[in-house]
Amino acid sequence: MKKTNAVITAVGGYVPDYIMTNQELSTMVDTTDEWIMSRVGIKERHILKGEGKGTSDMGVEAIKDIFAKTGTTPDEIDMVICATVTPDHPFPATANIIADKAGIKNAHSFDLNGACSGFIYALDTASRFIESGAKKKIIVVGADKMSSIVDYTDRTTCVLFGDAGAAVLLEPTQEEVGIKDRILQSDGSGRVHLHMKAGGSVHPSSHETIDKRMHYIYQEGQHVFKHAVSRMADVSVEIMERNGMTSDDLAWLVPHQANLRIIGATADRMNLDKNKVMVNIERYGNTTAATIPLCLWEWEKQLKKGDNLILASFGAGFTWGSIYLKWGYDGK
Ligand code: UT7
Repeated sequence: MKKTNAVITAVGGYVPDYIMTNQELSTMVDTTDEWIMSRVGIKERHILKGEGKGTSDMGVEAIKDIFAKTGTTPDEIDMVICATVTPDHPFPATANIIADKAGIKNAHSFDLNGACSGFIYALDTASRFIESGAKKKIIVVGADKMSSIVDYTDRTTCVLFGDAGAAVLLEPTQEEVGIKDRILQSDGSGRVHLHMKAGGSVHPSSHETIDKRMHYIYQEGQHVFKHAVSRMADVSVEIMERNGMTSDDLAWLVPHQANLRIIGATADRMNLDKNKVMVNIERYGNTTAATIPLCLWEWEKQLKKGDNLILASFGAGFTWGSIYLKWGYDGK
């Protein structure tokens, strides 16, 4: 019997309307467009505005995009995974809420917290359900409302992040396309360098945690940068080599968008030409779990059936990894 592969058959995306420029940030904290562009490569980011709007609202728009493009109906979906660090609520899972808002009633749905690696962790998880035959149509969402946990008085973090949601539809195929290999890793000792101090079971929310500004992203940028550069490049090179590929065989690197310098260093280690690297950090900033599917969404029209793609990320945890896949359809 032929092996069943898990292949992406559609991509959807959503970015909120409001654009926060470096200029606007420079009126809030002591920063400049020049610093942000030269150190990180971000020009602007989209911010979800509106009372009562959360991560699910972006995830559901991305799914509607998939339904509109493919004619898939909500009833056909049998699983929804949402990768996020900014769930609508601590519980229930944002995936449950997204499924409800999208009219998906025949699925089991859950969240997965892999921080910036959340999307590739979730894609890997979903692919196992497809390959085993347990599920037929899975939606994997990567969505984050980072503005809900950004401290807009902290110039070292507030310039970095934006809000977005994107999603892929994953289906079985007997063809030689889809997810071919993956390397996923984590090291929890890295948590000291990037985390949110309160709001969990160790430091439940209290007047004190709020007064001490413990509900925001805490990041020691240089430490994270150092690990990100080596880890993301290591797994990207390793997955390329162990699948017998050189940079010539690769159509695209789809990297997590945290810092243009990290992306550049990864591409250099892979000996990859810059025009084979998806980069949109300039317009969206770091949207955490959404960066990789957002790239796929933007580049979808250029992708061709059989293209070799490597998805790679590094984030809080630490979590990092790479997925090698063969794209399943010609862009329309
Ligand atoms: O996606 C999750 C994983 N996260 C990452 O991968 C992020 C990894 N880290 C980074 O991308 C970089 O470390 C940052 C972009 C966060 C910071 O860049 P850096 O080149 O490492 O800067 P730095 O932290 O070494 O700071 C250099 C200087 C400092 O001033 P002094 O001490 O030299 O006087 C900072 O206070 O730049 C200052 N600085 C700023 N200046 C203007 C920090 N943030 C800003 C700012 N505007 N927004």
